[in-house]
Amino acid sequence: MVKYKTLDDFDVKNKTVLVRVDFNSEIDPQTKRVTSDVRIKAYAESTLKELVKKGAKTVVISHQGRRGDPDYTTLKTHAEMLQNILNYPIKYVDDIFDKKAQTAIQNLQPGEILVLENVRNWEGETKNGSPDQQAKTALVQTLAPLVDLFVSDAFSTAHRSHVSIVGFPAVLPSAAGRIMEHELKSLNKASEKPEHPCVYVMGGSKADDSLEISRYVLDNNIADYILIGGVTAQLFLAAKGIELGKPALNYLTQKELTQYIPGIKALIAQYPQNIKIPMDVAINVYGDRCEISLSELPTEYVIFDIGSKTVEEYAKIIATAKSIVVSGPMGVYENSQFNLGTKGVLTAIANSKAFSLAGGGNTISAIAEYDLTKKISYISTAGGAITEVLMGKKLPGIEVLETAS
Ligand code: 3PG
Repeated sequence: MVKYKTLDDFDVKNKTVLVRVDFNSEIDPQTKRVTSDVRIKAYAESTLKELVKKGAKTVVISHQGRRGDPDYTTLKTHAEMLQNILNYPIKYVDDIFDKKAQTAIQNLQPGEILVLENVRNWEGETKNGSPDQQAKTALVQTLAPLVDLFVSDAFSTAHRSHVSIVGFPAVLPSAAGRIMEHELKSLNKASEKPEHPCVYVMGGSKADDSLEISRYVLDNNIADYILIGGVTAQLFLAAKGIELGKPALNYLTQKELTQYIPGIKALIAQYPQNIKIPMDVAINVYGDRCEISLSELPTEYVIFDIGSKTVEEYAKIIATAKSIVVSGPMGVYENSQFNLGTKGVLTAIANSKAFSLAGGGNTISAIAEYDLTKKISYISTAGGAITEVLMGKKLPGIEVLETAS
C-alpha cells in the first residue's frame, strides 16, 4: 500500500492550497459546453467543499481535452458548473501562471475558490519528465512560491508524468486529495490485497489491456478467476482453436486483434482452471438474437453477446466471490436484443455481497442504465489510470506523493 499524506495531515486554515483536479469531461463539440458533470460534482462534494469549510484559499488547476481535439476547451464553463453545484461564488481567470493568475491568487481570501485556465493551454504541460525536471519548469517555478500546499487529486491523470501532476510535489508539501485517497483505497481492496476468491470480469474489445491485466493478476495470485466476455471472448475462443466463422474472424482481423491470439493461448495453457470463456454465444441473425452453443460454430453471422448458459455459469462464480473487478461489457449492450450478457453479469455483481469495483466508460454507462449504481461498491471515473494500476504499473503521479514532504 502506498504511503502518502492526506488533508488530515495539514492545517489548511488561511493557507493557499493548489489543487490539481481532473475536470476533463465530455464536451459537446458544437457548443463546447460540458455535457457530463460527474467529475466536477465529485470534486465539488469532497475535496473542494472541505477546503472551503476549513477556510483555505483554494486554487484549482486542471486540463480539459488535448490540443487539436474537439473536446479541447477553456475551463470557464467548468467554473460556472462548479459554482452552480456548490451554490457558492467561484472565481475564474483565463490565465494559468501569468500576471492575471498571480494577482488573482494573491488576492484570494480564506474560503474562496479560484479556477485557473486549462493547464494544457501552456505547451510545456504535456512534455513528460521526472519530478525534478518538471519542478524546474516555468509553471512550477511561478506558482509554487505563491502557495503553501499542493493537493494532488487527479487520480485519473496520475499515469501521466506531466508538469502539473509530478512537478509540484518535488518542491511543495503535498497531500493526496479526497478523490485520490478514495480511489487508492478502493483499488487496494481489489488489485493489491483483495479478499479471496477474487474474480476479474473482463469484457469489451481492448484485448491487449485485458490480456496484460489477466496475466498480471494471475501471475501474482491476485485473481482466482477471470471471466471473459465481449469481443475479447471471441479471441479467447479462437485461441482455444474454435472456428468462429468468417464474419467474426474478418472483424477481429480488421480491428488488428488477431495478433493477441498467441499471448492468449499461452495464458490459457498456463491457467486452464482460472480462465473462463463462454460456453454459448448470441449471434445477430438479421437483427434478431439467436443463441448457439460452441459446437454449432462456425457461424455465418456476427457474434454480438455471450449466451444465457454462460451468464448462468458466470453468475455462479460471481456469487462465490469476496472481491470483484469488472471492466468492459459482455456484448453489444447498446442493442436491447444483445444486452442480456452485460445486464446479467452486472446484476449478478450487484447482487453479490463482495467488494465490487467497476471501471471504464461503457461499463459505467451500462451500470447506470440498469440502475445498479448504488449496488456496486466503487465506480471509478478514471480510464487509463485504472487500467495501468490493474496491470501492476506504478503511476508517476502516485509515486511522487510517497516522497513528498
Ligand atoms: C482521462 O480522462 O482519462 C484523463 O483526464 C486523462 O486524459 P488524457 O488521456 O488526455 O491525459
